[in-house]
Amino acid sequence: MFELCASILAANFACLKREVRAAESAGGDVSYIDIMDGHFVSAISFGTGIVRTMGRLTQKPLDVHLMVENPLPFIPELAEEKVERVSVHYEIPGGPEKALRAIREAGMQAGLVLDPETPNGAAKPYLHGLDRILLMTVCPGRGGQTYLEGSNQKIAGLRSLLDRVGSRAVIQIDGGVTPQNLPEAYAAGARSVVAGSAVFGGTVQSGVAYLRRSCAF
Ligand code: DX5
Repeated sequence: MFELCASILAANFACLKREVRAAESAGGDVSYIDIMDGHFVSAISFGTGIVRTMGRLTQKPLDVHLMVENPLPFIPELAEEKVERVSVHYEIPGGPEKALRAIREAGMQAGLVLDPETPNGAAKPYLHGLDRILLMTVCPGRGGQTYLEGSNQKIAGLRSLLDRVGSRAVIQIDGGVTPQNLPEAYAAGARSVVAGSAVFGGTVQSGVAYLRRSCAF
């Protein structure tokens, strides 16, 4: 299994429809939306209005990454917009338990996000019913960063942990992914890959094709 999630954070919003359709026709599997509130991370990206727009632009599954201090108020609206997956951070005040439960109760797939400095073991109490663990391979809050050293070891460590406890959760990575570093990330256990700059940074088609070729298996 391998899926490429095109992060619209890096898209040219002056022609979003063309960009999204190009990523889709070039082989992007999922449309990935980073919602940032300016508190959990210093940047503000977009609100749920973009989710409604994306639902009209693509038939691909929508994957929403909530980089917000309080994810709960967003969840009913995301469910209304037929979002398939929502990921929340382990690091939010009060912990992710309530938000993960609310995502599942709203009928969406739940993902837990671990920042680079958060150890894999932090995910253990939440593994029941978890569909995805998103390992940040950059510091959250900005696109166009460099893939962090040590990320592949963390991916491999998470793979071993999930195998030990028998979890079906998919390992997803986000941040600084390029055709050069993707093969090793895949070999370490990443099966869902978020890419913004590598997809939208040049011509979308070649970006997606290049990423896909880099991990032809
Ligand atoms: C960081 C964002 C980015 C984005 C992908 O908070 O989550 O990682 O989705 O950006 P690139 O692929 O440009 O690093």
